Amino acid sequence: MKKIIVTGGAGYIGSHTAVELMNAGYDVAIIDNLSNSDASVLGGIEEITGKQPVFYNIDLCNKEDLNYCLEKEKDADAIIHFAAFKAVGESQQFPMKYYNNNVVGMVNLLDCIIKNKLNNFVFSSSCTVYGEADELPVTENSPEKKAESAYGFTKQIGERMLADVSQADSLRVISLRYFNPIGAHDTAIIGELPLGVPNNLVPFITQTAIGIREQLTVFGNDYDTPDGTNIRDYIHVVDLAKAHVKAVERLMEKKSSDNLEIFNLGTGVGNSVLEVVQTFEKVTGVKLNYKIGSRRAGDVVSIYADTNKAGDVLGWKTERDLANALSTAWKWELALKEKRDKNQ
Ligand code: NAD
Ligand code: WQD
Repeated sequence: MKKIIVTGGAGYIGSHTAVELMNAGYDVAIIDNLSNSDASVLGGIEEITGKQPVFYNIDLCNKEDLNYCLEKEKDADAIIHFAAFKAVGESQQFPMKYYNNNVVGMVNLLDCIIKNKLNNFVFSSSCTVYGEADELPVTENSPEKKAESAYGFTKQIGERMLADVSQADSLRVISLRYFNPIGAHDTAIIGELPLGVPNNLVPFITQTAIGIREQLTVFGNDYDTPDGTNIRDYIHVVDLAKAHVKAVERLMEKKSSDNLEIFNLGTGVGNSVLEVVQTFEKVTGVKLNYKIGSRRAGDVVSIYADTNKAGDVLGWKTERDLANALSTAWKWELALKEKRDKNQ
């Protein structure tokens, strides 16, 4: 059976990807230090798939441990690299935390991969590399803008390292630029587990609806958009996970046309913050307490993906819409509440 190493596989997108890989017949070995996830996620993956992923509790910043692990797993067919910190605001406050974890961690990983002759690499990149785009939708050829945050810069550095390494070594790379991943697995066994106050819109909405937060603040309604609120491309995490299966298959079948290929992963549809709120209310029947507040620093006005390349070249397209994604996010929040209530 083919084996895929998944760094950050206990996290939000990584756990959904592990499930899709295992459902597609792959063995999965997860490397995660649980710095932003919980070991119970591993049990959730097993509950959904009926199989146990191999798990290494290893910090990518510990090169010795990492190399030991990759030596053991050197027969793996591909590696998907999710492990990173991802909070934009925090990265502005503590930039070195981000450079150390995301950049040093990735340098170590690439060193160990080259040493152990692993050849196929999928990278979690982000639409943040485009900044405030001049033209919408953004294609993979749209220019990168100066990163607005240290977090965003770590993604640009990551892609640059991969461009260099894939030219110099036998590494084949696919970099996937995610737009705004939301939602949870249909079973509500795995989903997003934000620690503390969520920065992202959808967990903030579901936590407000369930009563953990009092009120959602919509960050600005005076933007140059139809209803004045920001526009984003919200993509269901299960759709996103399935794209990773396509990506590793493309690499393993040596179908890539370049050592480094880049794909946007979005729906191609832009929705405003108020549309997300209204759709949430419609699909759940729950009235949301929200107010309009001031703009959040660093927010781009609008961004959504041109998904033609992912469709034509990767052979992937989204199967779910915003309403479906929000209803799974809500089901997940309800499941978390049930768990909390049981433990009281
Ligand atoms: P997440 O925080 O849920 O998952 C990341 C996982 O990596 C966590 O389980 C964490 O414990 C682990 N990790 C972090 N640093 C590590 C280290 N040094 N060693 C070992 N494990 C480590 O985040 P996510 O939302 O699943 O994001 C996954 C990837 O996708 C990240 O690289 C992120 O930057 C990228 N991304 C996320 C989004 C988003 O909105 N969620 C959008 C674009 C890109
Ligand atoms: C979405 C919209 C907010 C919270 C971030 C990263 C990006 C990528 C995806 C990793 C914005 C508005 C939010 C709230 C609000 N991640 N909002 N009230 O900022 O588009 O993207 O996640 O790579 O790099 O920046 O996502 O979910 O934070 O915000 O009105 O309480 O919701 O202003 O317009 P964002 P988000």
